[in-house]
Amino acid sequence: MSQKPSFDQVTLAAADKSVVLPVQAGTLGNPCIDIGRLPKETGCFTYDPGFGATASCKSAITYIDGDEGVLLYRGYPIEQLAAKSNFLEVAYLLMHGDLPTKGEFASFESDVTHHTMMHEAFKSFLGGFRHDAHPMAMLVGMLGSMASFYHNTLDLDDPEQRRMAAVRLIAKVPTIAAACYRHSIGWPLRYPRNNLEYVDRFLHMMFEVPAGPLELKPVAARALDLLFILHADHEQNASTSTVRLVGSTGANPYACVAAGVAALWGPAHGGANEAVLKMLAEIGDAKHVQSAVDKAKDKESGFRLMGFGHRVYKNFDPRAKIIREMCHEVLAELGVNDPMLEVAMRLEEAALKDDYFVQRKLYPNVDFYSGIIYKALGIPTEMFTVMFAIARTAGWVSHWLEQQEDPEARIGRPRQIYTGHAARDYAKP
Ligand code: CMC
Repeated sequence: MSQKPSFDQVTLAAADKSVVLPVQAGTLGNPCIDIGRLPKETGCFTYDPGFGATASCKSAITYIDGDEGVLLYRGYPIEQLAAKSNFLEVAYLLMHGDLPTKGEFASFESDVTHHTMMHEAFKSFLGGFRHDAHPMAMLVGMLGSMASFYHNTLDLDDPEQRRMAAVRLIAKVPTIAAACYRHSIGWPLRYPRNNLEYVDRFLHMMFEVPAGPLELKPVAARALDLLFILHADHEQNASTSTVRLVGSTGANPYACVAAGVAALWGPAHGGANEAVLKMLAEIGDAKHVQSAVDKAKDKESGFRLMGFGHRVYKNFDPRAKIIREMCHEVLAELGVNDPMLEVAMRLEEAALKDDYFVQRKLYPNVDFYSGIIYKALGIPTEMFTVMFAIARTAGWVSHWLEQQEDPEARIGRPRQIYTGHAARDYAKP
C-alpha cells in the first residue's frame, strides 16, 4: 500500500512565478496536491477528464489500492467481510463506521425491517409504466418519487432524520426493485414478509406467487448476500460521485440516490453485468472465444470485452476472485449446468494470456462472473443492474451521510476548457 510522502508541499513553476501548493495525505493512499489556490495565484485551472487524478472529497468509508488489489470497507478487508459478515451488517458498518454490537445490529435490523413497505400510492405510480419498461428506468423514477412521499417532513439539519432517510432507502429499495420486476411480468405485487431476513425477503418478493410457497435452497440467499456485500461500496465511482454531486446542492437524499441509479445504469459502470451476459450469449461457444478476443483488440470494431478492465484495479479485482469461487459453488449446489460458465472461463483464460490485455493490465472485474450467478438464481438479465443498485444503496447513503457532516464540502462545480467560438456579433446567416 502507498506510503505517506516525505514532502508536504510541491512547487509549481508558472511563467516567472512559482506557487507553493500544500500536499495532503490520508491514512492510506496516494498523497494529493491541494490545488485550491492555483487559480488565484496563476489564473490556471487543472484539466483532468474523467477525474483520473483528482480527489473530490475526503472520505473515511472505503479504501482501494488498485495496484495491490486491495479493497477495505472502514478498514476491513473485503475478503474477511465476505467470509464472516452479512450484507445488513456491512450496511451498518458503512453507515456508522464500526461493526455493530449485537444490540446495535438488532436495533438496525429492526429499523430496516419496519420500513420495508412501500406507500400504497406507489402502486398506481408503478402502474403507469409500460410492462416492457426497463426495470432500471422504473427504479430511477420510483426512487425519485420517494421524495414526494417522505421529503416534506425531512429536516436535513437533523442527524437522526438524515439517518432515518438512509434507513428508509436501504429498507425500501428491495421492495421497489421486486415490484418493478413483477410489474414487468404482470404478476401481483408481493408485500415484504418481515419475518424473513433482508436477502431472503427480497427473493420472496421477487419469486413468491400467491398460488403456492416458494422453496429456496439456502445457497441462493447466501450467494445473493455475498454479491450484495461485494457491491455495497467502491469509493468515488461514477454513481457515488453523482450522488455526492447532487448531494452537494442540498438536494434531498431520494433525489441523490435516484441520480446515482441513473449513473449506475451505463454499460461502462453497473450496466456491465447485463452487457457481460449478452456478450457471452453472443459468443455462444468456447470455440468462438479467440475471435471475440481479437475483435476486442481491434479498436475499429468498437467492441470491448465487457466485465474486463477497471479504472482503479490494475492487477486484479479482489471482488472478481471471490465471485468466481462462489459462481462454481452456486452452480454446483443448484445443479445448474450453464454453458456460459465454460465460455466465461475460456474467455478469461484467453484474455489473460494475451499481450494486449496483459500490457494494459485488463483483468476480469466484479461484473464478469456476477451475471452467471444471477442467472442461476433465476434473476432475469434486465434486473442485473437493479441488483447492483440494491447493494450500492448502502454505499450511496453512507457517502451522502458523510458529506452532510463534512465541514469542507462545497457545491460541486467543475471548470472547463472552452473550445467554442470567441464572442461574435449576431448576424443572420
Ligand atoms: N476490452 C478491450 N479493451 C479495453 C477494455 C476492454 N474491456 N477496457 C479497456 N480497454 C483498453 C482501451 O481501449 C485502452 O486502450 P489504449 O490504451 O490502446 O487506447 C486501454 O485499455 C485503457 O482503457 P480506458 O478506457 O482508458 O480505461 P478507463 O479506466 O477509462 O476505463 C473501464 C475503465 C472499466 C470503463 C473499461 O475498462 C471498460 O470499458 N470495461 C468494460 C466495461 C466494464 O466491464 N465495466 C465495469 C467496470 S467494474 C464495475 C463498475 O465500476 O461498475
